[in-house]
Amino acid sequence: MRIWRFHEFGPIENLQLEEVPTPEPGPEEALVELEFAALNPADKFLVNKMYPRPGKPPMAVGRDGSGRVVKPGNSGRFKVGDSVVVLRSDIGVRRDGTLAEFVTVPEESLAPLPNGWSFEEGAAAALVHLTAWRALVHQGEIKPGQTVLITGSSGGVGTAAIQQAKALGCRVFAMSRHEEKRKELLDLGADHALDSNDPAMMEEEAKAILGKDRVHLVVENLGGPFLQTSINLSGVDARILVIGLLAGLKSEISLANLIFKQLRIEGVHVGSWTAEEAQDAWDRIVEKLNARSQRPMIDRIFLMEEVQEAFAYLEMGPLGKVLVKVKD
Ligand SMILES: NC(=O)c1ccc[n+]([C@@H]2O[C@H](COP(=O)([O-])OP(=O)(O)OC[C@H]3O[C@@H](n4cnc5c(N)ncnc54)[C@H](OP(=O)(O)O)[C@@H]3O)[C@@H](O)[C@H]2O)c1
Repeated sequence: MRIWRFHEFGPIENLQLEEVPTPEPGPEEALVELEFAALNPADKFLVNKMYPRPGKPPMAVGRDGSGRVVKPGNSGRFKVGDSVVVLRSDIGVRRDGTLAEFVTVPEESLAPLPNGWSFEEGAAAALVHLTAWRALVHQGEIKPGQTVLITGSSGGVGTAAIQQAKALGCRVFAMSRHEEKRKELLDLGADHALDSNDPAMMEEEAKAILGKDRVHLVVENLGGPFLQTSINLSGVDARILVIGLLAGLKSEISLANLIFKQLRIEGVHVGSWTAEEAQDAWDRIVEKLNARSQRPMIDRIFLMEEVQEAFAYLEMGPLGKVLVKVKD
């Protein structure tokens, strides 16, 4: 089978397209023939050796995917030909991922492709929607009518968070550095779309709209200078859920607001769901999206041979998910 593997940690260019024997699943695993895989910024962090406890090369990255079961395991949940989605697990983190024609997956981390969804939609949803759900619902305990600020909101996690926050009855502040994308974020359901080219100006723009109000929860995908902006825009008892660090690994923040506003700043790690929790959250996410006839947002689909181009495109800042069409 064809697989994109790296043999040494380093730049993402270390990923090479190779031919290897198709893997054999263990008794509790299924062999899945992939249709689509999705890229995530963490794939690059992992190849760069910036991700904790990575698998041992040679290894394929790729945490999301959709496809068909070729050899089911012993759980009795799947049969040959079933259409499935790979939920967040060790796939593409500590063992071969979905940038391959076939992948072995513990059956506890597979879910049926939701009825009426395409393989593209299935591959685009799992990791980012589970992450957004963990931030908004599981840790953030968001309530209808509350206001949510989503930084880095045009990415995979951001667009998922917009869809979920709207489905949960919240007012949503989104942002982008690009005017065209701001329009698209409003079309996706955001109530406001801020210009994020300059965090200080963005804060002023948000305050002008909020008046005396402040936000109840921040989904923080950017870090760097945006964390202080998030603190400044937060109201008393607000929560800031830190997911990503695309604008900087380090943030300098003033502690005063933290104290007087009694803010909670928490890290969110999607990998900490158990398989059972992930299945449960996934079911609730699909139910919420279906209820609004919404599907995960897909930006662009690349061919299997174009994985390097796909990572370069992701780096520029997508609008939703970047996918790879694995099957010819
Ligand atoms: N903690 C977890 O469990 C977990 C799970 C999934 C993802 N993550 C992390 O969460 C972050 C977001 O992931 P994602 O998949 O949504 O990323 P993504 O699809 O690459 O999108 C991120 C968006 O952020 C904006 N952006 C990127 N760099 C920026 C910068 N320097 N300044 C301002 N805006 C910037 C871009 O929007 P514009 O171009 O429109 O401005 C881009 O579309 C990443 O750090 C990822 O590793 C963490």
